[in-house]
Amino acid sequence: PMVGELFGLTDLAERLQRKLGIAEVIVVSGNADQSPWVKEELGRVGARVLKQVISEGDIVAVTGGSSIASVAKHLSPSAAFRSVQFVPARGGLGERVELQANTLASAMAAKTGATYRLLHVPDRLHPEALQTLLKEPQVQDVLSLLGEARIVLHGIGDAMTMAKRRNYSEDELQELEAAGAVSEAFGYYFDEAGVTVQRMPTIGLQLEEVHKAEKVLSIAGGESKAKAILSFAKQSCQNVLITDEGAARSLLST
Ligand code: BG6
Repeated sequence: PMVGELFGLTDLAERLQRKLGIAEVIVVSGNADQSPWVKEELGRVGARVLKQVISEGDIVAVTGGSSIASVAKHLSPSAAFRSVQFVPARGGLGERVELQANTLASAMAAKTGATYRLLHVPDRLHPEALQTLLKEPQVQDVLSLLGEARIVLHGIGDAMTMAKRRNYSEDELQELEAAGAVSEAFGYYFDEAGVTVQRMPTIGLQLEEVHKAEKVLSIAGGESKAKAILSFAKQSCQNVLITDEGAARSLLST
């Protein structure tokens, strides 16, 4: 039997807390890889935690992805959100529109009664285009807001899964694999030791800014993300991890 099979969700969470060095870990039951309702549950808990930590005037940086989309779905209006701004952590990053950070920032604002900003920056830019866009006052505005984010709400991806989702070519995939990429977050790819091995050429929240944020809430579940969660935890920047049993049990058995 897998290690941890005899433990309840609270025990799993406590053991993960210790293994990953994250102050608060919440484990929901099930495995998001297998059952769609588990992602719903991750989103429900994510929305509840966000509501608990939010305070007036907050800037919340949000990434894209299906886990954060689930959080958006479960948010509801509350007075505390009125002066809050949701800001996309990155530009498009090649996600489907429904899963892009821009879309989720606006959806969260609509759900809660907050306001939002948009970052009109496409995925995988050429260096010259990047430099030009960086000079745009609108872009600069959003970037400076991101630098002030008190809360960061983000997903974690398995590196190769994300690269495929972003339509990397065979060569690019091989290069990433050879570099030892295991996890992806904020457009950064990390290896097993948590070291950055590659970065997406786009504009947005910098890793240093994630480290400076007061509250970093990560939402990632599914057994297939166990290695990725472990890799990103090496960054030691998370305050809360919301995950599922599938990922938790797999993580504790390695
Ligand atoms: C992407 C983010 O939109 O979602 C990534 O840019 C993240 O940083 C990914 O890794 C996670 O997606 P999902 O669908 O697995 O929650």
